[in-house]
Amino acid sequence: MVRRITIFDTTLRDGEQCPGASLTPVQKLEIAKQLARLGVDVIEGGFPIASPGDAQAVKMIAQSVKGPVIAALARSLSADIDAAASALSLAQKRRIHVFLATSPIHRKYKLRKAQEEILRQAVWAVKYARRYSKDVEFSPEDASRTEPEFLHQVVEAVIDAGATTVNIPDTVGFAIPDQFAKLIRGIMERVSNIDRAIISVHCHNDLGLAVPNSLAAIANGAGQVECTLNGIGERAGNASLEEIVMTLKVRRDFYQASTGVDTTQITQASRLVSTLTGIIVQPNKAIVGQNAFRHESGIHQDGLLKHRATYEIMRPQDVGLRASQLVLGKLSGRHAFVKRLSGLGFKLSKTELDRAFERFKELADKKKEVFDEDLIAILEDELPVTQQMYKLVYVHTTSGNQTLPTATIKLSKDGKELQDAACGDGPVDACYKTIDRLTKLSPELVDYSLRGLTKGKDAQGEVVVKLRHRGIEVTGRGASTDIIEASAKAYLSAVNKLLSTPTRRSYLGRRSALHP
Ligand code: KIV
Ligand code: ZN
Repeated sequence: MVRRITIFDTTLRDGEQCPGASLTPVQKLEIAKQLARLGVDVIEGGFPIASPGDAQAVKMIAQSVKGPVIAALARSLSADIDAAASALSLAQKRRIHVFLATSPIHRKYKLRKAQEEILRQAVWAVKYARRYSKDVEFSPEDASRTEPEFLHQVVEAVIDAGATTVNIPDTVGFAIPDQFAKLIRGIMERVSNIDRAIISVHCHNDLGLAVPNSLAAIANGAGQVECTLNGIGERAGNASLEEIVMTLKVRRDFYQASTGVDTTQITQASRLVSTLTGIIVQPNKAIVGQNAFRHESGIHQDGLLKHRATYEIMRPQDVGLRASQLVLGKLSGRHAFVKRLSGLGFKLSKTELDRAFERFKELADKKKEVFDEDLIAILEDELPVTQQMYKLVYVHTTSGNQTLPTATIKLSKDGKELQDAACGDGPVDACYKTIDRLTKLSPELVDYSLRGLTKGKDAQGEVVVKLRHRGIEVTGRGASTDIIEASAKAYLSAVNKLLSTPTRRSYLGRRSALHP
């Protein structure tokens, strides 16, 4: 039978404890609304005694977010529990979450209390919280480092006192999946009244094991998991909501467990949290990292195009993305290249394709990622080649604040190579003067513009020039990672248009015909 796991989101409480993350009450409310759309069962809105802002955030969420249970955290102290209850008073469904450390190290150094006192205080706190809410969760902080026998005693006592959920935190991320599984199994087997409460887990990621530990606990009887979007939280963070939820969905065959999360809302939720907290998601982060559904290797791209499941275990649409992305780079093959071109509306002949693919590979060697704009630039630059009169073979310039800018250019025309050099006001002007000498044409440069086509230091620059000659105006464009080369190509392409015969095919015209 498939068990329904309760998703307790603590992005707004433990997540906000992430160094550098601080949210205003209004921002917390915005995230809470998205969490409700995501379909989490419980939203822990904050720790009301900790600050007036947190109390206000919990209040606002309790007042306007309907659907999920709204929880607030409290130490096992009356003032904390009063503050949590007051902040939650308008909630449709509320939960008070009380905690008290139980491990020897916390008992001895932090609380300076013996086991009996801890037990008494925990029971008292749960009973006190029950005066405000029927739904009370108790967390024995640092449970994974607590003596199991004492932990069983605490769990049993707080359930008797009225706790409806008992959360087992791996507060310092010390647990190992097999060991944590055993701890949960031990609680399930040895606590006599365990059937009266749900066992929850709350794992930190100090050893990168928060998600494996949470899953091991689910497989051994935990019915609730506490987690955060993007895995943010104290120190190395908490178990990531999206990883747990998608693991349960993708590997339902193994866990026999489901959640109420609408997974198509995951991407939007992750982006909202990242934007509002300012905490960037690492690119290779499972599920929500920007590379999670991007394929770079040519072998993978080819496999994926033949059958998606060869290299994808979940559909990008399942997490709210539009499609997987084939990253065009030096490892990409022809299959992915053709697919992307056809997506852009280009249909090329075999020869055009061969040449364009060659140019793409040359560019990919210089540039990590080739974007759509790069491809368009290649094609616009490449396709009229058969009609081009002059083709750029070589360009070399020297310039500097103490040097006379000079350009040396080699062009080819009808299989012959021509070379010349000239000086100018700058390297671009020197190039244009050299081209004029070689082509024996002196058009007027009416306009020159340069823009970065893509992002990054290795971006391609695109130059567009407008030339006027004997009353005719033409534009030319050229692209390259070297802006001098792009400038020369743009000028030459305009010159070729001036010189071209009526049979010249307008590439742009052809493209717009494909995109009516
Ligand atoms: O990590 C922890 O132990 C906690 C508790 C308050 C649940 O965040
Ligand atoms: Zn925590």
